Amino acid sequence: MMDLFSDIDALEREEIISLRKELEEANYKYYVQNMPTLSDREFDEKMRRLQDLEKAHPEMADKNSPTQHVGSDLSKRADKGFEQVTHQYPMLSLANSYSLEEIQDWLRKLPEHVEIVCELKFDGLSISLWYENGKLTKAVTRGDGQKGDNVIDNIRTIANIPQVLENVPAHFEMRGEVLLPWANFERLNKEREEQEEPLFANPRNAASGTLKLLDPQEVKRRGLTCYLYYMLGENLPAETHYERLQTAKQWGFPISDAIKVCHSLDEVNEYIRYWDTERKNLPVATDGIVLKVNNLAQQQELGFTAKTPRWAIAYKFPAERQLTKLKQITYQVGRTGVITPVANLEPIQLSGTVVQRATLHNEDFIRQLNLREGDMVWVEKGGEIIPKIVGRADREETSDPRIPRTPSFPSCCPECGTPLVRVEGEAAWRCPNESGCKPQLVGKIEHFVSRKAMNIDGLGEETIELLYDNDLLHNIADIYDLRKEDIARMERLGDKSADNILAGIEASKNVPWSRVLFALGIRMVGETTAKKIAKRFPSIDALQTATKEELIAIDDVGDQIADNIIAYFADIKNQEIVSRLRQAGLQMEAEGGEWKAESDKLAGQTIVISGTFNQHSRDEYKDIIEANGGKNSGSVSKKTSFILAGENMGPEKRKKAESLGVPLVSEEEFLDMLND
Ligand code: IVH
Repeated sequence: MMDLFSDIDALEREEIISLRKELEEANYKYYVQNMPTLSDREFDEKMRRLQDLEKAHPEMADKNSPTQHVGSDLSKRADKGFEQVTHQYPMLSLANSYSLEEIQDWLRKLPEHVEIVCELKFDGLSISLWYENGKLTKAVTRGDGQKGDNVIDNIRTIANIPQVLENVPAHFEMRGEVLLPWANFERLNKEREEQEEPLFANPRNAASGTLKLLDPQEVKRRGLTCYLYYMLGENLPAETHYERLQTAKQWGFPISDAIKVCHSLDEVNEYIRYWDTERKNLPVATDGIVLKVNNLAQQQELGFTAKTPRWAIAYKFPAERQLTKLKQITYQVGRTGVITPVANLEPIQLSGTVVQRATLHNEDFIRQLNLREGDMVWVEKGGEIIPKIVGRADREETSDPRIPRTPSFPSCCPECGTPLVRVEGEAAWRCPNESGCKPQLVGKIEHFVSRKAMNIDGLGEETIELLYDNDLLHNIADIYDLRKEDIARMERLGDKSADNILAGIEASKNVPWSRVLFALGIRMVGETTAKKIAKRFPSIDALQTATKEELIAIDDVGDQIADNIIAYFADIKNQEIVSRLRQAGLQMEAEGGEWKAESDKLAGQTIVISGTFNQHSRDEYKDIIEANGGKNSGSVSKKTSFILAGENMGPEKRKKAESLGVPLVSEEEFLDMLND
């Protein structure tokens, strides 16, 4: 017996260690990288399991356990460029519940006849706004709960946050949620899709990524909004939470109208039921409701645990799931020839958007669910914006020959008819006809002209297809043979568009070598990898003759990428394209203007970038600063060494720089500084 118990003990101890690791990683992915790996529910279940195990094993207590602290949005890198500020009151999290029973358990622990305020739980990121003598002075993210990042310059771009107030207490703090409304989120993701940038999984991640940008103009453009739900400070008006929020509303703060004081579980239930449906009509994302003890004296008596207040609890709405008909499976060919099966669904409304398509990933996925056209399938959309097919409704197995069997995966490309190949060890089928399959060719051209590649404005998907169908554009080199009259005679395009496109094509000849390399679209060579390769091989001639060993010596380049690069340059059609691009005048080697190597010329300097630039993009300047030992910062302070000032620099920044005596350095002066 003894042995058995000690075995269980050992297993549980191991589980504690692995759960701690898993939850820390999930927190990091969620708060810092804005790429959630677990659903909220999975996270909570694992957290509860860890709490139970830790209770059973007090000898394993550890104040660093994720059960003892809230997740942190502070970057592990200390160079993010925001001032770190210690919270005046710790910024805690909320205990979660998923059922009315759990709410009832919580209510039972409260004093009798307590009033409960029900509010919507907004799904963004928390912010703490500091007001001193009627002026907004700081805006601090939750960070690790004890200290956060001051993102004031970004917060000032949010139109519904008051920056100056009259007749308010001298010192107080408002806490709430920063959100990206659905409409702005969808617009942003559409833009990102066009630029082939990774999509944000949901508005929360998008809001979080946006608030941590070092470029307030871009933050403003994306259009954040805010709701506030908590006022803190000494000697503030009102004795209840509800009255305080109403007072804040009168002062001009954005306070939701959906707040209700409840006196019974029934009333709470009614509120939940109403908002579980009605929330779909709101302009912002919500993921539950928050219940709070209304009386502030009672709140104080109840106090806090290490992580959450005892006077509040969240109820999380269940992930939305619906049954709908799988009308048809179609097959999409991507830029690299990968064939993705797509479920075409009877349209359904799910978590704020209409869903009519969902990926079926690959052949194995279809087989695992044993899917057939005509099946009823479960579609789910929780915190993630991308709808998932999570199951199939039972279907009566029958041998009726009229009922279609699981469709066999096509053996030939649905676009060009070439027999498909399946690379060993990969789940995907691929069309090998790289130089003759329309979606692959159009996709490659779209990638080539995209903003982060050659940045040729005006050549959108439709125009490229139009030019392709008219035999004017079949590969990226053809772009440089386009004539004004070719473009202008296309349907929907006139003289002006043609001039625009030609100007973009001309300007692309100055795009530096690292971006040209990215634009070529070599499989798996993304933006960052291309930069690293271009640094090691400062010309296309050097790269074309590189050996596999030399290639894998580069950071980020593994076996597969090295093989892809070698295969790309070995292909005679690609050699011809590269030679035509060279003739057209593209940058095939690092030039004076392009930074060649890392240096420590900017060591110890904190630099703020402002305005727009001619020779490099803002992102490139950020990289240049880092590569030369400098530090990027989003806001001007006493610590700023200088401002890299482009055209149309923000007036606020200019004013602040002048008042603090921070020098402005022009783009040319900056490049001279590095080339010295
Ligand atoms: S009250 C001390 N009220 O949910 C607790 N939080 O999961 C103060 N949230 O960190 C929080 N809507 O970012 C409160 N109406 C609301 C909320 C809300 C969203 C967020 C908040 C909090 C998180 C906890």
